[in-house]
Amino acid sequence: MTISEVIQNKYGPQTAHGYDRLAYNCFWAYKEAFEAAAYSLYAFSRPTEEATRNILDVGAGTGNGSIAITQKFNELEIQMDQFQTQFSFTLFDQSSSMLNKAIEKLQGKNTKKIVNPIELLSESVSSEFDFVFSSYFFHNLNLPQKNLFIDSVFKVTKKGGSFILIDRFLIDEKNLFGSPAYLKAYTIKFYNDAKVSSPKIQFKDVQDEIQKNFEFENDTPSNLLDTMTMLQDSGFEVSCPFVSFGIGVIHAFKPD
Ligand SMILES: C[S@@+](CC[C@H](N)C(=O)[O-])C[C@H]1O[C@@H](n2cnc3c(N)ncnc32)[C@H](O)[C@@H]1O
Repeated sequence: MTISEVIQNKYGPQTAHGYDRLAYNCFWAYKEAFEAAAYSLYAFSRPTEEATRNILDVGAGTGNGSIAITQKFNELEIQMDQFQTQFSFTLFDQSSSMLNKAIEKLQGKNTKKIVNPIELLSESVSSEFDFVFSSYFFHNLNLPQKNLFIDSVFKVTKKGGSFILIDRFLIDEKNLFGSPAYLKAYTIKFYNDAKVSSPKIQFKDVQDEIQKNFEFENDTPSNLLDTMTMLQDSGFEVSCPFVSFGIGVIHAFKPD
């Protein structure tokens, strides 16, 4: 599966089928960003009387963020000689194909799926969540939607809870995504993976495809610092535990 196939298939059955392999093999720091999120979440989280912590994952896709972060969180608890937290998941995505994969992978866990446009987030979800996750989804939203999304997330996050936002971000004013060297570095993983199924594929072809993806009109990555300020303005305490090659993890903690 290639990036343009993902876009053409609009996260339909074909994307749902090939997505995990593409993400883990080709996306820069995919695993590492989830790991940084888990460490930060663990460090900030307060002891709870509740048996289960509720998670909302917006743009959950095939559930990789929810699965990777909570597994690592439980591993950290074991390392620190603590009981393992139980989690329940509410997964929010417009694609039922992607969500069905997530439900399949989270089998046996308390899982609920919501297929709805983002505008309905605040109406669809009434309960409060200990942790809200959103990975590689935010850049799909335009600025008014981003503001609405952040306000909705603030409302549904419990006091003492956290919102983890992972995405591609513009890191400085130079807009790294527009630079040829950056594009080359970013493309290498995709190229190595593409060579396995198409040994004759040219680096330039893969690079052009990634470039097209960066220029995709619905793709609007935000500046990292601006996003942190937006979250702060809505009432969160904000930190950034991970940045690498335009991938950033923002941890937004909701104080009492
Ligand atoms: C790149 S995938 C990320 C999936 C997963 N969070 C991860 O970390 O791999 C983006 C997901 O956002 C969903 N999505 C995009 N725009 C959306 C919208 N406006 N409302 C709800 N979901 C949306 C897509 O269906 C897709 O599953």
